[in-house]
Amino acid sequence: MPLDLARLRADTPGCELVSHLNNAGAALSPDPVVDAVVEHLRLEARVGGYEAAAVSNGALVAAGASVARLLGVDPLDVALTQSDTASWTKAFWGLALGGWFDGGGRILVDRAAYNSHYLSLLQAQDSFGVTIEAVESTADGSLDLDELDRRLDSDVRMVTATHVGTHRGLVNPVAEVGLRARSAGVPLFLDACQSAGQLVMDLPAIGCDVATGTGRKWLRGPRGTGWLFVAPEWSERMCPPGIDGRSATWVDERRYELAERARRFDEFETSYAARLGLGVAVDYALAIGIPLIAERINQLAEGLRSALVEIGADVHDGGTRRSGIVTFTVPSHDCSSVQESLAATGINVSVTEAPWARLDMEQRGLSAAVRASPHAYNSEEEIQQLVEHVGHLIRG
Ligand SMILES: Cc1ncc(COP(=O)(O)O)c(C=O)c1O
Repeated sequence: MPLDLARLRADTPGCELVSHLNNAGAALSPDPVVDAVVEHLRLEARVGGYEAAAVSNGALVAAGASVARLLGVDPLDVALTQSDTASWTKAFWGLALGGWFDGGGRILVDRAAYNSHYLSLLQAQDSFGVTIEAVESTADGSLDLDELDRRLDSDVRMVTATHVGTHRGLVNPVAEVGLRARSAGVPLFLDACQSAGQLVMDLPAIGCDVATGTGRKWLRGPRGTGWLFVAPEWSERMCPPGIDGRSATWVDERRYELAERARRFDEFETSYAARLGLGVAVDYALAIGIPLIAERINQLAEGLRSALVEIGADVHDGGTRRSGIVTFTVPSHDCSSVQESLAATGINVSVTEAPWARLDMEQRGLSAAVRASPHAYNSEEEIQQLVEHVGHLIRG
């Protein structure tokens, strides 16, 4: 069945108000997501927060199961969190507190590494002496697998890879990274924050041991939601920070026991309404079909890239396989002024700046780029309007 654009847009009231091409920032949620969140908040107000959670327990469990279905993994290995960063830090520091980095060692990161992930690595470098090593990219900007092969020796303790960076649209060859990390016996941490919801995800095929993502971007869930997958052979080695009565049991004065598998990353206190919204968002995407969503996003993004090149903008995505993130600069215009000028005509884009993906952007001498990120619900007309406006800026 082809994608029903009219239905998608009708489900998304924001489409009437704005041309939202900032889905890599936070997407417009469809009505069923908003309804689920608001209904639960109303229920909490009527019957009490704990009581509402009990009423919605089945749906809360189902939300985790939906995320697991999206990723192709067992629900016992998925925890819902409040952001990608919360997921990543829980797993990373969990591994550290579990002793995995005792004695130091090297951590290999790709050049698309995201700000908050790298910050944790820097903290680890300062606090227990691991060495961070960036794997070079190929000429088109993708993670260089030969370089990875050269660096992946017995002193390496962990590999990180970014499926799609925050700052450019290429898709990294992460399954090939998974194969290599597996044979080296080190965990692969996959940043799937900009890929889940816009690309078909099959974590077992990728072969990652940890994967993290957020709800508000391509999944179109509420803000304040995220997810974490940890393969069972790794979760049992992790001693996550910030445990509470849900993720652990206080056994006696001297002892505690961590919950099994991904349950040890759970948190008692969270927005149950937002979590339900995330479950509905994932179900909504799965009902449409991720392959259809992926195809439509790719079509819009590739159309946008060619049109931008044609009018004289500089497109910076690179790669052989690309996603819905389109990054560009406009000659003689700084990126913020382009964003502001587009916003004044009702078109939302964002500006991606070097500190968000410093390893890659600085190497390319790029301090900022405009980031347009169409989702399946965007129309061809919206893309056309963006191109016309940028063309107008170029022509002065
Ligand atoms: C590639 C990538 N990784 C991780 C994150 C962090 O996500 P969150 O803000 O949900 O922690 C982002 C956010 O933009 C991102 O683009």
